[in-house]
This record gives sequence, structure tokens and C-alpha cells, in this order.
Amino acid sequence: MIKVKKRKILLLPGDGIGPEVVNEVKKIIEWFNKNRSLDFELDQDLVGGAAYDKFKTPITDEVFFKALECEAVILGAVGGPKWENLDFSKKPERALLKLRKELKLFANLRPAICFKQLVEASSLKPEIVSGLDIMIVRELTGGIYFGEPRGIKPIDNGERKGINTHTYTSKEIERVAKVAFELAKKRNNKVTSCDKSNVMEAGQLWKEEITALHKKDYKDVNLEHMLADNCAMQLLRNPKQFDVIVTDNLFGDILSDEAAMLTGSLGLLPSASLGAKDKDGNLRSMYEPVHGSAPDIAGKGIANPIATILSFSMALKYSLNLDKESTELDNAVQKVLDDGLRTKDIISEGKKEVSTSMMGDAIIACLQK
Ligand code: IPM
Ligand code: MG
Repeated sequence: MIKVKKRKILLLPGDGIGPEVVNEVKKIIEWFNKNRSLDFELDQDLVGGAAYDKFKTPITDEVFFKALECEAVILGAVGGPKWENLDFSKKPERALLKLRKELKLFANLRPAICFKQLVEASSLKPEIVSGLDIMIVRELTGGIYFGEPRGIKPIDNGERKGINTHTYTSKEIERVAKVAFELAKKRNNKVTSCDKSNVMEAGQLWKEEITALHKKDYKDVNLEHMLADNCAMQLLRNPKQFDVIVTDNLFGDILSDEAAMLTGSLGLLPSASLGAKDKDGNLRSMYEPVHGSAPDIAGKGIANPIATILSFSMALKYSLNLDKESTELDNAVQKVLDDGLRTKDIISEGKKEVSTSMMGDAIIACLQK
């Protein structure tokens, strides 16, 4: 396997608002290089629809190998109506799924934190969301996203059948559960595992493996099992009951969008996708905002870059061993929100509306102080 090259960061802006938000992160990385004497080596390339337009593939081998050898990938977003009718294998999303699968990024961390400055931006009552701090750990390389057989097949009487398969092995469940338990130990010591063990065998296995691992290694962590539909409901009813939620690929996709909205805007939620550490302690990783490519607002300079900036902050913490710089960046984001600056998605009365690049500049100005 290709060796990870220290301090090398690959930017893959992708489609829609991806390039706009990643550009703000680029400015921040350059600021860290200049002002904190860090030696990040930056590279940038095409992915998703942007790569398809040029090379007729959503990710070239060259870019894929670059992703394999860098220490962290920062991805913007992929997809959009322009590429919707392409053959499945050519769709922009395939690039993202290939990166996740081939880099073995099985644990996707999606924190949902409601910033005190943005309590009003949530559609829920302030007392329900203020102080909210949940970590969703989504399994990212298994389940129905990747299970075989899959496809669309002709069947009798001129009909067709769409097939996807939901599978999990014990090992796949155990390794992501381990990540969740370890995170909980550093937080509020509670894990809620979500499945549909009442209807799916793979869900039953999920529940059994998590229970077994808990009994073996994590007795001191509070573990609760919840059916995924109930979890969707509880997230709206009383989200503060959760600390760490661990769930499969599909439920994690859905529940993390829901959790995002509790915090006011999808434009604020970062994510980290992590693999296992190798024997030298190196880790493959990719960081992306939870929001998508938002083609409706692309190119207008109004997208919120905070989710991507906070994703880079997660990179500083989880991949680059720069906890201090990560906190510094988080604080700068807080300060800008304290100062009343808001992009369009989180604007409220009495606050100042700023563009994507003004938001990035303001965060850099706070770092500077
Ligand atoms: C996400 C996205 C992706 C997913 C899409 C773009 C393939 O919704 O990261 O949550 O479904 O995983
Ligand atoms: Mg999603």
C-alpha cells in the first residue's frame, strides 16, 4: 500500500458550492503556513462532476492515488442536476463512495453542536436545542451503500427490479462501535446504538455485536439500543438525551441530516471520515462538510464556509496532531459568530449578512488577533 506523506493535504473542491467553500479553507491553510510556521503541502484537483466534464470519469486514477498518499483529503461536495442522468458508474457521487471505500474510511464522525449564538436559527424551541452537543458515528464503508448483489434487472412481464443488499459482518460492526465507545469515554460516556433489529437480520447482528463488545471492553460506558425510527423521533423530541449515536451507513446518512437541522443550518456541520491507524500510527482520512453541493446557490458567493472550515479543524485534531491550532480555529469561528456576522443561511434580525469570502476573511482576521 502507498505510504502516507506527512503534512500533505489534498483539496478536492468538487461541484456546486464545493469550490467556493474549499477556497476559504485554502486561505486558512495558507494563513497557518505563514503565521504559525506550519509546513502543509497543498495540492488541489478535480473530483465529481467537474472531473467528469474534463475526463469522462468522476475520479481519475491519478487523483485517487494522490488521495491515497496524502495525510488528509479535504473534499467540498459532489453532484448536481447536470450529471443526474449519467450512467450510475459515472455519477459524481461514485467518486466520493470510491474514496470512502478504497481508503477504508469506515468511521464517519458527524458532530451536531448547537452554537449558542445560533439557537434562534434552529426551527426547534431554544430550550430543546441550546447546549446541544451530539456526535453521530456513521458506519461508512458497508451496509446497503455497498452490498452485493445490486443493480436494476429486467424481470417477467416487462417489469424491472431494483436491487440493493444490506449486509454487515461482525468485524465491520465491531470496529465502528469501538470508535463510538472510545469517543464516548472522552465525552459524556453514553452510546446509543441505532438499528432496525425488529425487521432486519443485519440489524439484529448489529445489536448483538455491539452488546458483546460492550460487555467485553466497555462495561463502564452507558449503552442504549434504539430503533432507528424511534431515534429519528427522539432527535426532535429531546435531542439532549444523546451523547454518541452509532449507526449504519444509511441510517447515519439520514439521522445526521436531521441532527444538522437541530443546530440551525446544514451549513455548519463538519465531518471526519477515518480509517484504522497503521503500525506507524498513520491514518487515512477525509474531511467534508455534511451539506451537499447545493447547486441552487452555487456561484452566488452566499454559501456558508463554516462547515468546511470546521472540517479542516477536525483534520488538525484527528489527522495532523495539532489540537492547539484546531481549538484556535474553532474559537475564531465562535468569535465571528459572536460579532454577529452571518451568511444568508443563518441570518436573523439585527445580524450582519456577509458573503462566503467575507466570512472566511473575518475568521482569518480573528486568528490574526
Ligand atoms: C453524505 C451525502 C452522500 C451520502 C452522497 C452525496 C453520496 O449525502 O455524505 O451524507 O449519501 O453518503
Ligand atoms: Mg447525506
